[in-house]
Amino acid sequence: MKLGAIILAAGKSTRMKTAIPKVLHRLAGKPMIEYALEAVEPLSSLPPVVVVGYQGEEVQKAVGERAQFAHQEPQLGTAHAVLQAQPLLEGKVDTVVITYADMPLITQQTLLNLWEVQKTNPGPLSLLTLESETSRGFGRILRDPNGKIQAIIEEAVATPDQLAIQELNVGIYCVQAEWLWKALPRISLSPKGEYFLTDLVELAVKDGLEVKTVTLSDPTEAIGINHRGHLAEAEAILHQRINTHWMLAGVTIIDPQSTYIEADVLLGQDTVIYPNTYLQGKTVIGEACMIGPNTVIRDSQIGSRCEVFFSVVEKATLEDDVDVGPYAHLRKGAHLAKGVHMGNFGEVKNSYLGPGTKMGHFSYIGDATIGAEVNIGAGTITCNYDGEKKNPTEIGEGAFIGSDTMLVAPVKVGKGARTGAGAVVTRDVPPHSLAVGVPARVIRKLKDEDG
Ligand code: UD1
Ligand code: MG
Repeated sequence: MKLGAIILAAGKSTRMKTAIPKVLHRLAGKPMIEYALEAVEPLSSLPPVVVVGYQGEEVQKAVGERAQFAHQEPQLGTAHAVLQAQPLLEGKVDTVVITYADMPLITQQTLLNLWEVQKTNPGPLSLLTLESETSRGFGRILRDPNGKIQAIIEEAVATPDQLAIQELNVGIYCVQAEWLWKALPRISLSPKGEYFLTDLVELAVKDGLEVKTVTLSDPTEAIGINHRGHLAEAEAILHQRINTHWMLAGVTIIDPQSTYIEADVLLGQDTVIYPNTYLQGKTVIGEACMIGPNTVIRDSQIGSRCEVFFSVVEKATLEDDVDVGPYAHLRKGAHLAKGVHMGNFGEVKNSYLGPGTKMGHFSYIGDATIGAEVNIGAGTITCNYDGEKKNPTEIGEGAFIGSDTMLVAPVKVGKGARTGAGAVVTRDVPPHSLAVGVPARVIRKLKDEDG
């Protein structure tokens, strides 16, 4: 049985009060629509069809190659939206799953369950329902005295008796494709001026065909995003889901409430995360690390057994056994090799620090390449910017940079060389020599062992 997926995303989202498309608002670090894409992708070998309309070009641009797009203009309701996907799926699939881009909490497992039920259904349609005392504006499921589903009635037109029904339509369907394409044109315009997909139920029942329902076991999955309150609600649920996932995978989270891990972050076993920590973007953290408290790590690779304490790390790479902080700032292109120690109030940007190098206090290293086992004294600065361009600094392995050294780039300090405290280095320092003063001069050659 071949499945095709349709993700509805054409509606205008007035209640979000936003200039950007609703489905591109971020949840746990990524656009809302990605959750619907991820839920359907493993079920089908065909890219899902996203039905776009209002601000459709922006949505299409953000989603890219992952989907095919159908354009719905004007937006004449959910049935009309599904109709737009017909040319892309007809003849290619025998079953269609229909979901919404603004229902990001629906899981792949739920869609799979629905599909499994539809596989055993002699009739053409299965749908998800929800038992809930709060209606959230959802349509009500009408059943006959034998419990057989008869129709879905939209809240706006329901009678008081119908409004009391606590079985709700989630809005997600699994439909036999051929039947769907024949049924859609039979749906008539509602008094609201829309074609309601929910009318499929009545059509099937009228034809004497069976409609099956699957009750959602976790009602939070049905949260649809219509305004910022829903967005925060969904964020909180994802936050909890993600933390639970990592705790079950062997990560210690001291205070899940104050630990924010975005959806695409990966964490190794026995890593401990302290409170008030934000792990964002495509961050990967190895095993047995200690992260936080009060730390932000964004789009960075952290090896195993690292410690990041009270620090900000962005687009950086830390190999194994690195420790940084408190108050370290690693910026784009910072690469700290194995065993680097970076203490308080340091900043590193677009630089490589070789294995075992130590930078204990108050330093700025930018556009530099630093060898192994270098000691960078307190207050060392690479003066990399001359007002027009950024210039490189190179420091050879085993060098010892005295406290408060200014390295006026472009400049090289050789292997095993030393600079005196307060040196202003404007010219290259040869290997194994000592340079001191302002501007720094080489005053003696060092024995190799001294370096
Ligand atoms: C719909 C269902 C309702 C269900 C509820 C669950 C219908 C008629 N009603 O109502 O029974 O309880 O979802 O959330 O289907 N969309 C389009 N094009 C359109 C209209 C909508 O793509 O012309 C998309 C929207 O972007 C949204 C989804 O379809 O992602 C649902 O539309 P919405 O207007 O929210 O439907 P509801 O009135 O909430
Ligand atoms: Mg809705």
